[in-house]
This record gives sequence, C-alpha cells and structure tokens, in this order.
Amino acid sequence: MTIDEAINLNKPIIIKAYSVSESIEHYIKLVLAKILQKHNCEVLLIPLYTAVKELVVNAVKANQKFIYFEGKKSYESVFFDSEKALQLFRLEMTRSDAKYLDTLARKSNMYALTSITVIDKKLCIDVENPTPMNETERDAVAKKLKIAQQCEDITDYFLQAEEDDYKEGAGLGLVLITMMLKGMGLTQSNFIIDSDYEKTIASIIVPLTKATLQEYQKRISETTPKIA
Ligand SMILES: Nc1ncnc2c1ncn2[C@@H]1O[C@H](COP(=O)(O)OP(=O)(O)O)[C@@H](O)[C@H]1O
Ligand SMILES: [Mg+2]
Repeated sequence: MTIDEAINLNKPIIIKAYSVSESIEHYIKLVLAKILQKHNCEVLLIPLYTAVKELVVNAVKANQKFIYFEGKKSYESVFFDSEKALQLFRLEMTRSDAKYLDTLARKSNMYALTSITVIDKKLCIDVENPTPMNETERDAVAKKLKIAQQCEDITDYFLQAEEDDYKEGAGLGLVLITMMLKGMGLTQSNFIIDSDYEKTIASIIVPLTKATLQEYQKRISETTPKIA
C-alpha cells in the first residue's frame, strides 16, 4: 500500500527507525505533509516535523544508551559504574558515526516505532521505544513538562527551572515541544510521555481544526519581527 492510499483509507502509518537517517527524516516529513495537506493545515508542518523528529531522536538515543550499557554491564560487571558509563556513552556518542550505531541497533533489534494516524480530526502521533525510563528520569521529565507548561517562552523556563534541570545543555527538547504545542493553544494533555517497565511511549495529539490554526497563526504574527 502506498502512503497516499494509507492516508485516504485513514490507516495508521508506521515508521521503524534504528537511527535517524536522512531517509527516516524524509518519510516523517512526507507523511506529515500529506496528512496536513489533506486537512488544510500545511502551516503546521514545520513545528510538527520538528517535534516528531525530536521524539524519534530521543527514542533512538534511549535504545542506543540501553545497548551501550548492557554491553558495559556484561563485560565489566565487577567494575560497573553507571555514572562513569554514562560519561563514556556521551563521549562515544559524539564520536561515533550514525552508521555504526545503526548497525548496533539492528543487531539488537531495537528500534523506535512511530505511528501517525488521524482519528476524529485529531492527528495522533506515537513514538515508542522498548527502553523504559528509570524513576529518576521519569520524575525529571514530569517536572520539566510541568514547568514548561507554565512558561511563556524559553527565557522564562531558564528563570524558573533550577540549574540542575538544564545543566550540560541537555534536556530542552521536551521543553521546546511543550512550548510549541502551547503556541497552538494545546496543553499538557496533548503531549504525554508514558513509561512502564518495558517501554516508553511519547504521544502528541493535535486537533486539525480551525481553532488550532488560528492560535498558531496568532502566535506567529505576534512573534514575527516587523519590517518598516
Ligand atoms: N523515548 C525515551 N526513552 C527513554 N528516555 C527518554 C525518552 N525521551 C526522553 N527521555 C528522557 O528524558 C530526557 C530529556 O529529554 P529531552 O528533553 O529531549 O532532552 P535531551 O534529549 O537533550 O536529553 C532524556 O535525557 C532521557 O533521559
Ligand atoms: Mg531530546
């Protein structure tokens, strides 16, 4: 079945990603563009694509972290130090090329599964990865989303969040998604991250309605620089 046929029949479209390659980016953008076009909401493409890509990157990164840690645990169980392993992981992530990480993920059969569908004029996007968040991560994410929901913009977030919440420049992806959705008049119930003992699912729900478009366009016109 082609993408167009699936969209016409309102079937969920599923994209499987071992890493975030150019072809994955291309498909995510293509599917979103076609769905948004069908519902006359093309202007939402850039923010929604940015949000979905961030979620897929998070999911793939979580899988790679899991693979990396499992390897470290089995080879160096006596000396395993999770803090050190995390530092090593960050270092190696910045060094290694995406292709190598893709190969590792394929070997372990670990992928991010993105499902995109429209139900009752609501665009529903789920990104699932088979790696749970631990309690500390879950708490940090919940806290972050709550603060972000109350903030007007990113500067406001920096003022309200404690230093720990964004040290090393990490952890702004979910905050930015929350703010982008807020700019469409949406709230925390439209962006949910749920993690149990075997998986994490991030879900975005966007009503493809005039109200969403109006909120978004209002926000855009407020923030567009005026040229005299
Ligand atoms: N799909 C996911 N699976 C597991 N953990 C996740 C997932 N998405 C987010 N997280 C956790 O939430 C944290 C914050 O995510 P994010 O705001 O995107 O910042 P960053 O990606 O820069 O760390 C991540 O560092 C990770 O601990
Ligand atoms: Mg991120």
